[in-house]
Amino acid sequence: MKVGFVGWRGMVGSVLMQRMREENDFAVINEPVFFTTSNVGGKGPDIGRDVPALKDAKNIDELKAMDAIVTCQGGDYTSDIYPQLRAAGWTGYWIDAASTLRMADDAVIVLDPVNRNVIDAALAKGVKDYIGGNCTNSIMLMGMGGLFRAGLVEWVSSMTYQAASGGGANHMRELLKGMGVVHAAVADELATPSSAILDIDRKVAAAIREDVPTEFFGAPLAGGLIPWIDKQLDNGQSKEEWKGQAEVNKILGNEAAIPVDGLCVRIGAMRCHSLALTIKLKKDLPLAEVEAIIKSGNDWVKWVPNDREISVKELTPAAITGGLEVGVGRVRKLNMGGEYLSAFVIGDQLLWGAAEPLRRMLRILIE
Ligand code: HSE
Repeated sequence: MKVGFVGWRGMVGSVLMQRMREENDFAVINEPVFFTTSNVGGKGPDIGRDVPALKDAKNIDELKAMDAIVTCQGGDYTSDIYPQLRAAGWTGYWIDAASTLRMADDAVIVLDPVNRNVIDAALAKGVKDYIGGNCTNSIMLMGMGGLFRAGLVEWVSSMTYQAASGGGANHMRELLKGMGVVHAAVADELATPSSAILDIDRKVAAAIREDVPTEFFGAPLAGGLIPWIDKQLDNGQSKEEWKGQAEVNKILGNEAAIPVDGLCVRIGAMRCHSLALTIKLKKDLPLAEVEAIIKSGNDWVKWVPNDREISVKELTPAAITGGLEVGVGRVRKLNMGGEYLSAFVIGDQLLWGAAEPLRRMLRILIE
């Protein structure tokens, strides 16, 4: 199989390459071919064996020679190149991290530990477009997939705490620069234990309002939060919020949509997205049964008992970042009644939220 890679040098692409090396994926790809938008003829990445010089990612003839193309290049590239390739008669597999094609009728959103049945049915029907889901939705389903699979979910209210990485590499840098600006504004006072905390706070507030960089986020994130992610829609939802119900139901292959809605909020974490969920179950189940169903969801569910000490240690970005485990904790019955459940789900935005489902889809195609 000839597999073309586009956008492998960016942040998501680099995580994809790293995971593919770790899992020895290149050993099962006969001909990996690397494309570039800026360095045609340059040297490909180190994958443990020789690869041809970089090819032009805009050259439709070169792309057409591929059996599959995996792209992390972004939505503009997909919008430009994908229609040209299909119009030129290309019938290969298109595996994409961008959202452009996600909701297309003939595309599947891939998250195989949750929807392998949907993927297999699509492959059997000859579907050729396999698109990674929105990071927040993929993480939620990796955590709570067991409850959905058991048909127990009547609706979900999902309040998110989304990391800087969801915006991109520049956004992560901006968050860190902002943290530095805030610290620098009061470094002297902090070094003096007797300095007045309200003076420190006043200086910090001024630094956040005036000096923290906002070029990429459009508002100061360091020392604060931003209660809006992505575009504004006419119905008052943000586009990120709209994706919840649309994508979750598409991933699961549901005919009747399960309502999924809530507010999406950007916080100053680096690359872990979290969600505080309220779930209305279709029936009042004992908590032990709920726990067993959630744990049975997939091999990456990291169940965290609803205990203070364990939760603050294990259910945090510090514990989860950089790993494939998706933390699920704070699960308890709410005052609203026996069918109402809380849960806190946390996962690495660049792994299950972006690169991992694509890598695994490629493996499914090859094996
Ligand atoms: N839209 C998401 C975010 C990331 O901004 O956090 C991509 O799924």
